Amino acid sequence: MIAKAARTEARPDSPGNIGVPRHVAIIMDGNGRWAKARGLPRVAGHRQGAESVRKVIRAAGEAGIECLTLYAFSSENWRRPETEINDLMGLLRFYLGSELDALHREGIRLRIIGDLSAFKPDIAQMVERAVARTAENTRMTLVIALNYGSRNEIVQAARTLAGRVASGEIAPDVIDEAAVNAALDTSDLPPLDLVIRTSGERRLSNFLLWQAAYAELLFVDTLWPDFDGNALRAALVDFAGRERRFGGL
Ligand code: IPE
Ligand code: IPE
Ligand code: MG
Repeated sequence: MIAKAARTEARPDSPGNIGVPRHVAIIMDGNGRWAKARGLPRVAGHRQGAESVRKVIRAAGEAGIECLTLYAFSSENWRRPETEINDLMGLLRFYLGSELDALHREGIRLRIIGDLSAFKPDIAQMVERAVARTAENTRMTLVIALNYGSRNEIVQAARTLAGRVASGEIAPDVIDEAAVNAALDTSDLPPLDLVIRTSGERRLSNFLLWQAAYAELLFVDTLWPDFDGNALRAALVDFAGRERRFGGL
């Protein structure tokens, strides 16, 4: 009974889409290796990776996914050489500039998780404008994780809740899972159903640690620049075949 209730709860409002995950998150990995295998500079892999982003957003919308979260830049990626960071920032600028109209036309709402304050002001502003412009769109939510780290997100949530306790607004014992959830960057997003990581690495790299507690995990060997709509559809078939028990029977 409990298991049944949990399953119903995980998908309360999309009976027409049984088996389709509401929220898919992707760790887009392998751009550098894709380029290296072709004797190209790493930035060529990132550029090709941006093509995969376009294809996967389209396929996710067509599949009826409500929310797609893409890990674009982790809080640990600042450890990379400056030239690589500059290339990634340049691509982000270019992508936002060239894709925003299309995203808006397709009814996609853009959201950001992570700390934008570390980015150059022009990028932060561009991102904020894109979020504002697409805020009313309802077809699909596209979440880009930028300078995102899950541990830091949880630290910030703890700090927010501690502040509310210190000011007397709430008592410590009203802090429950829902309260923590509500203090995370992802508070307004559907529960995470599926995490996909490309490139054969089998780790989460500080991505959505709290949110992934009961998500299905799928690790594929495909390098991100080779990932496309068909690859996403194959992942969805894999997901549909899984039995989620949420601790029940
Ligand atoms: C993923 O590809 C893109 C980012 C992390 C920004 P990588 O750049 O990590 O590619 P590999 O892992 O070196 O192949
Ligand atoms: C994770 O990939 C971050 C993104 C895809 C943005 P990394 O390539 O940075 O992860 P590690 O360093 O191999 O764990
Ligand atoms: Mg990598």
